[in-house]
Amino acid sequence: MGFSSPTKAVLTTLKEAVDNSLDACEEAEILPEIRVEISKVGPGTLKNTDLIRIQVEDNGPGLDADDVTKVFGEYLASSKFGRGRCSRGQQGIGISAATTWAQLTSAKGVQVITKTARMKQALSCVVQVDIKNNKGMLQDKKSVSWDRPSGVKVEFFIDGRLQLQGEGGLLTYLTGTALVNPHLTLKYKIGDAPVEKIERVSKEVPAVPDATEPHPHTMKLGEFIAHSHLFGKSTVTTWLKKGFSRVSDNVLQELVKAGLKKSILETSLDKVTDAEFKEVFSKLQSITLMAPSTRSVMIIGEEAFSKSVRRLGEVDFFSVVTRKPAICDFKPVAVEVAIARLKNPLARAEGEDDSPAQVLRFANRVPLQFDKAACAMVKAIESVNWRTYGIPQPKNSIPLGPYVIAVSLVSPFIKFKNASKETVDASDELVEELRRALIQAGQRLSRHIRREARAEDLENKIRHIEQFCPILVDCLCRITKSPAKRKEKATEGLMKLLGRDVQHAEKQLEAAVEDHQKALKKGKIQLIEEEVAEETEGEGADVAPEEVPEKKAAPAKAAKAAKKAKTPRKEKAV
Ligand SMILES: Nc1ncnc2c1ncn2[C@@H]1O[C@H](COP(=O)(O)OP(=O)(O)OP(=O)(O)O)[C@@H](O)[C@H]1O
Ligand SMILES: [Mg+2]
Repeated sequence: MGFSSPTKAVLTTLKEAVDNSLDACEEAEILPEIRVEISKVGPGTLKNTDLIRIQVEDNGPGLDADDVTKVFGEYLASSKFGRGRCSRGQQGIGISAATTWAQLTSAKGVQVITKTARMKQALSCVVQVDIKNNKGMLQDKKSVSWDRPSGVKVEFFIDGRLQLQGEGGLLTYLTGTALVNPHLTLKYKIGDAPVEKIERVSKEVPAVPDATEPHPHTMKLGEFIAHSHLFGKSTVTTWLKKGFSRVSDNVLQELVKAGLKKSILETSLDKVTDAEFKEVFSKLQSITLMAPSTRSVMIIGEEAFSKSVRRLGEVDFFSVVTRKPAICDFKPVAVEVAIARLKNPLARAEGEDDSPAQVLRFANRVPLQFDKAACAMVKAIESVNWRTYGIPQPKNSIPLGPYVIAVSLVSPFIKFKNASKETVDASDELVEELRRALIQAGQRLSRHIRREARAEDLENKIRHIEQFCPILVDCLCRITKSPAKRKEKATEGLMKLLGRDVQHAEKQLEAAVEDHQKALKKGKIQLIEEEVAEETEGEGADVAPEEVPEKKAAPAKAAKAAKKAKTPRKEKAV
């Protein structure tokens, strides 16, 4: 489960700890400040590994002494288990698995310092996992002073290897996490590199909506029966009404009308046979149920996401789309997309701009870093025709160029293809919803790209004229042995003639600049240096590109071309 290779082991440990810190801060409505330090401290015991120390410290609500042992040393001790919330943690095995791995490889559990608001002194201890009995063991317990109101600090020593960039990279994870958590301030130090700080760009702690129950139409028979185990000896009626969304008394009556025996509904769950479960299940599938409510999903929001995108590096321009929560496969989902073009693509050598765009995937605001090929988000990106937006793309593949395409999917019921939660199942409905968001973002982007192309065209024309016009006149005059006066006149005439051409192109550029100005005035687009004002656009509507708000840096090339053509520049310089 995420510890299959030395690099993955380090990433998974970091991820489990940071995801927990973010969840804990969100629940306690605290603006998270997380500090990460990862370093090599010696040779590992396994082949080709180093002993790696991973420290994660948060300013969350902290944990009580009683809970520490359970959280770090017991499996399935989570309060979040199967509760249908958009939290990062879902299962209650994450951090105990990391403790187990530390114990297996370095013979030491996790070192924890914790302090809640009620504790005067912080508690420092080591938690070990008693794997056989699924119990945590507390060691080296002592009180220590800690200069913060509350929080948790964990320290793991594991056998592993440091990888910074790329699929399994630690930096990929940290910058991705910052991107979809605009309210996070993150300090990190990895290896010998200096401390880096990513400041929060939003001061709002996202409100995590209340939990929701699964919709019966999202389940397979096996899951349906397993779900009943959470309800002990309740009757089938109670289970169906409390355990599922959109099952009301009316629905139960409809089930009976559809031929379900009333007696089954009154039976206690521990007495129901598999055949009876099957009967209830198939009757439920056969009737029409209301789609679930979308109230349980949350979004990052275009404003916060836009600000966050700028933390990706030097961004030339970008567009962000937040779709309204929708229902896919009877599950509420919210899709958000940000596409940014990097000005000075880091780590991309010259002439390598033809490499595929960088795809960042997020599920419930956690970066997904492995097994991307079969993921719904990648399938959706590949299915969009990016060439129509002026972005090169090999057929049915990821588009090319210095772009970052970030896709965020939030849902209380994300269906992953595998246990390590790295690939989102690509159902047709979900891929379509993702596609719509990508198309909207692509349309927004294409306007910038078209304008740039026009400006470049003009620049090329002018450059040609400037280069060849004097040579042409000179040659013609020499052939015809014309006097200097004639040459002067010809130059003037030719310039006039060509000037018309320049003027036409200039007019085109002027029109483009004017369009840009109008759009700026109407607030449909914004220059990148300006603060992103609150947007009024109805999220997620399928709007024509002209009606969609955009954010962009002033077209540098257009500015250059306008200057060259001696046209007074109308745009605001940035
Ligand atoms: N840094 C922390 N501060 C406060 N509470 C924490 C912290 N870390 C963990 N917890 C608590 O411990 C519980 C168990 O964490 P654990 O990582 O095992 O499971 P999870 O996050 O719920 O699910 P998953 O297995 O998917 O990670 C959490 O649900 C949370 O209540
Ligand atoms: Mg967790």
